Amino acid sequence: MTLTIAIDGPAAAGKGTLSRQIAEEYGFHHLDTGLTYRAAAKALLDAGLPLDDEAVAERMALEVELAGLDRSVLSAHAIGEAASKIAVMPAVRRALVQAQRAFSRKEPGTVLDGRDIGTVVCPDAAVKLYVTASPEVRAKRRFDEIVGKGAAADYAAIFDDVKKRDERDMGRVDSPLRPADDAHLLDTSEMSIEAAFQAAKSLIDAALIKKI
Ligand code: CDP
Repeated sequence: MTLTIAIDGPAAAGKGTLSRQIAEEYGFHHLDTGLTYRAAAKALLDAGLPLDDEAVAERMALEVELAGLDRSVLSAHAIGEAASKIAVMPAVRRALVQAQRAFSRKEPGTVLDGRDIGTVVCPDAAVKLYVTASPEVRAKRRFDEIVGKGAAADYAAIFDDVKKRDERDMGRVDSPLRPADDAHLLDTSEMSIEAAFQAAKSLIDAALIKKI
C-alpha cells in the first residue's frame, strides 16, 4: 500500500525544502506540483500563446511530463505569475490533478506539495501538513533567496507580490488554498529549517504509528 504525505501552504512558506527533506528521510518519491503549473505556463509563454484561453491552456497542461520537471528552468518570476493565472482554470487543474494523482500512487510512498493536495488531489493522504508563515517572513525569505544568488531585490515589491499571490490562490473558486480539516498546521515564522523538519517528522511519525 502506498503512503502519501500531503504538504500545502502559501508561496515561500518553506514547503519545498521541507518536502524534499521528508521525501529523503522516508525514502519516498517527491512531486512539487507547483512545477506542473509552471511547466504549462512556460509552454504557453514560449509559444507566445495567450494566458486567458482555457482550451489552449488545457492543451498545454495535458502535455506536461512529470518526469522532466526542473525548477531551475521554471523559476522565473514571470512563469510563477503566469502559473498562478492559469491555475484558476478548472480545465487546467483537472488535467494536472489527474497526472498528480497517478504520481501519488507510486510505491512505497509519495510526498506531494502544493496548494490543494490535502483538499483535492489526495484527500485520503495518510498525513497532511499545512505549512505557513507570516507574509513578512515569507517576503523576507524570497528576498534573501534572490540576494543570495547575487541578484538585486526590492523587499517592498516582493512583499506586495506575496500578498497578491496569496489573494489569487486563496480567493479562486476552484480548489482555493486552505488547510484541509484534518491537516496539521505548521507555522514556520519563527522556526529554522531544521526545527520545521523535526516538527514535521514528529507529526508524521505519530500519524504513521496510528495508521499501522
Ligand atoms: O512561487 P511558488 O514557489 O510559491 O509557487 P509554486 O509552488 O511554484 O506554484 C506556482 C503557482 O501555481 C501558485 O501560485 C498556484 O497558483 C499554482 N499552484 C496551484 O494552484 N496548485 C498547486 N497544487 C500548486 C501550485
